[in-house]
Amino acid sequence: MIRKISEELETNLTAKRYLHTQGVAYTASALAMCHNGDLNLAYLAGLLHDNAKWIEHTKKIELCVIHNIPINENQRNNPDLLHAKLGSFLAKEKYDIQFPDVLSAIEFHTTGKPDMNLLEKIVFIADYIEPNRKPVFNMDEIRHAAFHNIDFSVLLILENTVKDLKEKNNIIDPITFDTLNFYKQKMENR
Ligand SMILES: [Fe+2]
Ligand SMILES: [Fe+2]
Repeated sequence: MIRKISEELETNLTAKRYLHTQGVAYTASALAMCHNGDLNLAYLAGLLHDNAKWIEHTKKIELCVIHNIPINENQRNNPDLLHAKLGSFLAKEKYDIQFPDVLSAIEFHTTGKPDMNLLEKIVFIADYIEPNRKPVFNMDEIRHAAFHNIDFSVLLILENTVKDLKEKNNIIDPITFDTLNFYKQKMENR
């Protein structure tokens, strides 16, 4: 299954996008090894996490409408936001993935969500730290924490993400704030 999906993605994605996809898959499986997760599921979720990202914006909206995937106003104005939810749907329907953890890891890989399970955290982090990513503020610490204190790594990523979105005046999904608050609280209560 993994081989077939890899081949399909390699054919359809640009070299840069395929490189990112592979980076996330390998990083996710390394994190699963470190945290006693299922490395095959981590690899699979990493491979498919952005499967809908490369679909044209109008087509993204069209697919959501056809398949009754709700679109809010933010998402209508910025259809890129739909790629996680649509990607999860397509992982199930197009790639026939039935593992609920893989589907939810794809669905929440950009926003995160409060109290994520291990695979959700792994894909959320792997997307941010994979080796082909441009260096960002605190990247070394985030990468180190990913393997030593996974919740702290999630928190650092959320802090960066919210800061970046605010600076760019981009819309922030409320679930990202909820996630940030959840992990802040969790670290304070340790
Ligand atoms: Fe993504
Ligand atoms: Fe990604």
